[in-house]
Amino acid sequence: MQALKDVRILDMTHVQAGPTCSQLLAWMGADVIKFENPQGDATRGQLRDVPNADSLYFTMLNCNKRSITVNMKSAEGKQVFADLLKKCDIIMENFGPGVLERFGFGWDKIREVNPKIVMGSIKGFGSSGPYADFKAYENVAQAMGGSMGTTGVPDGPPFVAGAQIGDSGTGLHLAIGLLAALHQARRSGKGQYVEVAMMDGVMNLCRVKFRDHQRLARGELSEYSVPTYQGMGEVPRAGNDSGGGQLGNAIHCKPHGANDWLYIVVQEAVWGALAKRIGPDLGMPDLASDPHFAKIGERRKNQQLMWTLINKFAEKHTKRELMAILNPLDVPCGPIMSTQDLANDEHVRGREMWVELDHPQRGKWFNVGMPIKLSESPAVIKRSPLLGEHTDEILHDVLGYEKQKISELRSAGAFSAPPKKAA
Ligand SMILES: CC(C)(COP(=O)(O)OP(=O)(O)OC[C@H]1O[C@@H](n2cnc3c(N)ncnc32)[C@H](O)[C@@H]1OP(=O)(O)O)[C@@H](O)C(=O)NCCC(=O)NCCS
Repeated sequence: MQALKDVRILDMTHVQAGPTCSQLLAWMGADVIKFENPQGDATRGQLRDVPNADSLYFTMLNCNKRSITVNMKSAEGKQVFADLLKKCDIIMENFGPGVLERFGFGWDKIREVNPKIVMGSIKGFGSSGPYADFKAYENVAQAMGGSMGTTGVPDGPPFVAGAQIGDSGTGLHLAIGLLAALHQARRSGKGQYVEVAMMDGVMNLCRVKFRDHQRLARGELSEYSVPTYQGMGEVPRAGNDSGGGQLGNAIHCKPHGANDWLYIVVQEAVWGALAKRIGPDLGMPDLASDPHFAKIGERRKNQQLMWTLINKFAEKHTKRELMAILNPLDVPCGPIMSTQDLANDEHVRGREMWVELDHPQRGKWFNVGMPIKLSESPAVIKRSPLLGEHTDEILHDVLGYEKQKISELRSAGAFSAPPKKAA
């Protein structure tokens, strides 16, 4: 049995931050009802690669869900929504500020309808404070949560991370909050409101940079490869520095293309073995005992020279060859993997992290798999739903509506977009 088999979720989320969360919960077995605007989640049509097919953005974030379309701007639609609320354990949304309140369903109303329900909300900046009314997307959250300010090099512009820490990162935070609140609701009989702000989630993921921010009050950051000094105030962007107590950097390898790099961590314990291996090739047979590098303190001070030497050694090797040299020495390292490398990687396939699926509109396609592996309830990944594919099924099976009632509601416009007003 899947871990969340007995959990039903009314999923009003759209775009990425919310759907990431509900997809994970669906992969753990929850019955996720994607409750869509009759026009559909806007991402169904965004950056389409196959004409008239749901976009990969949508299909990759909405697997294992059922889709119902309901017009929340009609009285009948609101009634269907209220009926569904009574049948669900969790409701979740990531609308812009005030949207649910405009439907007449703020948290107070929702818990009045179902006191046991847990509600999850993602907002750019939460429901309190001076930023509460602002909308947000991934890079806005990265800009405001400390990620962009600390990514890049000091004399260049700030950079966004390729990983979607603002959207998917926030979805992960929400999943944790929802599961905790659900656990409590099952004991207490009382639901609660779980809020995650994207800016807060990014700050959480930048926690170690705030360690460094406070250390700057006491002295320089000796492990940084870029200049720092006491009282500097803000943590500088530090390129590919490891960010931890151990020195690390990306080393350029043969044939020196865009992704011909190996990230190496020169862990304290491995310096001797590493220096013995590379020293002779560099004409420095005594590198391991060279006082410039003998202790971690010296290596921190002289790290530019150390990286130059390791880069020199790497010139003759590809990233995979260098990895093969360093692995037996127990040096923590990893090649920079391109998307192409990953899509073809044996390890990735073996761990079911690049999963082939079929879709009625687009045929074969791939999704990134489930990164959380439960030994007794492994995820079975199923394609995303077409718009409104399960409307009748949900109305009948979950709400017990008869055919006659469904057809009356349909005629009243409960499941379709209101006709556009004439100009
Ligand atoms: C992502 C975001 C910027 C998109 O903004 P947007 O496209 O203007 O969408 P909003 O969420 O503000 O509004 C959705 C609209 O669809 C309408 N809608 C949604 N579901 C509906 C339904 N079932 N029936 C009828 N109308 C519906 C809403 O009423 C609203 O229209 P309104 O403004 O007239 O009330 C915004 O939703 C947001 O800031 N969300 C919170 C942070 C977040 O999750 N960001 C995205 C990360 S991927």
